[in-house]
Amino acid sequence: MDEDQFKTPLFDAMVALAESRKVSFHTPGHKSGKGISTRFRKFVGPRIFSIDLTTLDEVDSLQAPKGVIKEAQTLAASAYGADRSFFLINGTTGGNHAQVLTACSPNDTVLVARNAHKSVMAGLIFSGAKPIFYLPLVDEELKMTLNVTTEATLAAIDANPQAKVLLLTSPNYYGICADLKEIVPYAHKKGLTVLVDEAHGPHLRFHPDLPPSAMDVDVDLAVQSTHKIIGGMTQASMLHAKGPRVDMTALAAVLKLVQSTSPSYILMASLDLARMQMATEGKALLDKAIRLAQEAREKINKTPGLFCFDSAVCKSRFRGMGGLDVTKLTITVRDLGLSGYEVSRLLNTRFGIQVEMADPFNVLVIVSIGDRKDDLNRLVDALREIAKESRGNRPFSFGKIGLPPFGRPAGLSPREAFFSELQYIPLAEAKGRISAEIVTVYPPGIPLLVPGEQVTEEIIEYVTEMSQLGATIDGLDAQNSTIAVVK
Ligand SMILES: Cc1ncc(COP(=O)(O)O)c(C=O)c1O
Repeated sequence: MDEDQFKTPLFDAMVALAESRKVSFHTPGHKSGKGISTRFRKFVGPRIFSIDLTTLDEVDSLQAPKGVIKEAQTLAASAYGADRSFFLINGTTGGNHAQVLTACSPNDTVLVARNAHKSVMAGLIFSGAKPIFYLPLVDEELKMTLNVTTEATLAAIDANPQAKVLLLTSPNYYGICADLKEIVPYAHKKGLTVLVDEAHGPHLRFHPDLPPSAMDVDVDLAVQSTHKIIGGMTQASMLHAKGPRVDMTALAAVLKLVQSTSPSYILMASLDLARMQMATEGKALLDKAIRLAQEAREKINKTPGLFCFDSAVCKSRFRGMGGLDVTKLTITVRDLGLSGYEVSRLLNTRFGIQVEMADPFNVLVIVSIGDRKDDLNRLVDALREIAKESRGNRPFSFGKIGLPPFGRPAGLSPREAFFSELQYIPLAEAKGRISAEIVTVYPPGIPLLVPGEQVTEEIIEYVTEMSQLGATIDGLDAQNSTIAVVK
């Protein structure tokens, strides 16, 4: 192991500065917590405020790092196998904006796997790039959007020789990865720069039983939500860059544009420490998380009415994927006669267990380095109880609701549509009109409509029914009944 990986230069400098007890006549206004509300200080304790710092010589500047932040980012690059790594304080959202803005000029053609997060679509609006979307594989039985197949990706590359950039999301929310090992060399051979939204994969590199990370297979730019899966605090992410296709100067300049000039040092320290933790003990920590997840999976699969797919199912049934992050447990509950939403609600209200998300047929559980055996046992026991009580129910049916539909391309780029003259009309009358908004049903947060896409009958029906079921819809008015379209 590289002994340097035990170092935490940013955190150390922050602690040293806090302990020096210098008098502060600078931001933040709470002055090391002396001005913070008493309730807040009583609950969290006083020390956290002493490291809520601002850009000062002792702790460097995220906008122009040349001291401890530079050192911390260099250690992160080394741990992640990148040429350069950048700390992000607005999550992978900010990283997706930055990677699209760096790799794409206005009117460049970008091949985008359609299972992209809203932040990718926002990056397309900002940049003025022209996406050509292609579809992920779906599993009709589980009513789940999987990832893109290698076959579909290579076909999209071949059919669009003008494309400059390929943008993939891997792993997806359920831990299902695209086969980057196969896709990346082909894309590079065809002259494409490859960007990966790896929000759900900051741990992959640290365990051989997990699918390869983007940097391991020479992806050019990848963004990871350190906060989602490992030890980063919420909003703390990293962007990694590698190879000759990335203009590092341009990337650093873009990050200066999209990131706050007052970055949270607490978030950045959590990145420094999370990297140290994974680089020095990630394998052991993940050994445990993987074991806990696998044991729970086996028990769930022995429970009548429940199903939790594993790597073998991923290989045999979800053809063309690049493997499964086994720390994600997608628990299919439909044979209990309950929806994923209902099981999620029961787990929460009766058993005090909160899952990551639910969809019509499944609940998704993230098992991480923070979980203990007791936590997983409690989950399994609760699921067994729910299953026992549901015995004899008919499988849950969602009426005619199917898989989420997507809008149709209509010749306008996301940016052109977003900045067009708009009209707000009832969703029920929007068939055939061009959306000016990103419309997303949560979960899993994949947009149904991107600005520039035509609204279809299926989308209107789907949004209406999901809205009635209580799903969260983003991009419409508060009643989910009005949509912004191009006039
Ligand atoms: C695939 C994917 N990309 C990007 C994001 C945004 O990441 P963040 O919350 O770190 O901004 C999410 C959030 O759920 C996501 O699931």
